[in-house]
Amino acid sequence: MELKKGFFITFEGADGCGKTTQIKLLNEWLNKKNYKTIVTLEPGATDLGKNLRQILLHYEKPVSDEAEMFMYLADRAQHAQMIIKPALEDKTIVLCDRYTDSTVAYQGYGRNGNIEKINTLNEIATKGLKSDLTLLFDVESEIAQSRLGKTKDRLESQGIQFHKKVRNGYLELAKQNPERIKIIDANKTIEEVFSDVQKIIGELLSI
Ligand code: TYD
Repeated sequence: MELKKGFFITFEGADGCGKTTQIKLLNEWLNKKNYKTIVTLEPGATDLGKNLRQILLHYEKPVSDEAEMFMYLADRAQHAQMIIKPALEDKTIVLCDRYTDSTVAYQGYGRNGNIEKINTLNEIATKGLKSDLTLLFDVESEIAQSRLGKTKDRLESQGIQFHKKVRNGYLELAKQNPERIKIIDANKTIEEVFSDVQKIIGELLSI
């Protein structure tokens, strides 16, 4: 199935929202229909990014909020230039697990960073490359937390208050960008959520 252009679809939501499972299901569905896709993620899609991911999620000494933010941005800059942009030029559907909205939600709303400045930094990191569509998997913070495994990484261990701020941040972002960001109720079962995903993506691709 040859597309006239690539599509850049990003997946956002709190830790434990189930987006990774949905990306996998969506990718299988699109491949069955012969669409050319790639599945990619932040942080850690590039070789440089894998090194940053290791620090971001597992570094045990204190990390300043700014250092954390710049590492996510460095990962994104490398990812956008090396992987996302070439794939879009090759008319591929890019399914990306987290992108610019994660930094606004986590480092902005979650850690009380300056949202306007983060928007500018995102713009610099991506050279203005924006997603065509963003699916926000919204889930009650308590449910999301209960889905996480026992061994939590550095971000997952931040506590319920932090994750509530992140969730509200995402909802605020969706309110500000109703065209681009579609909210999906991720409190439901995997099958129900996937059916909502199919509806939205089916409309986007006219399938
Ligand atoms: P993710 O790969 O989704 O973690 P997992 O596979 O364990 O669900 O994301 C890693 C963590 O990084 C997650 O807690 C969210 C956080 N994060 C930010 O705080 N800011 C960002 O810009 C990005 C991309 C992720």
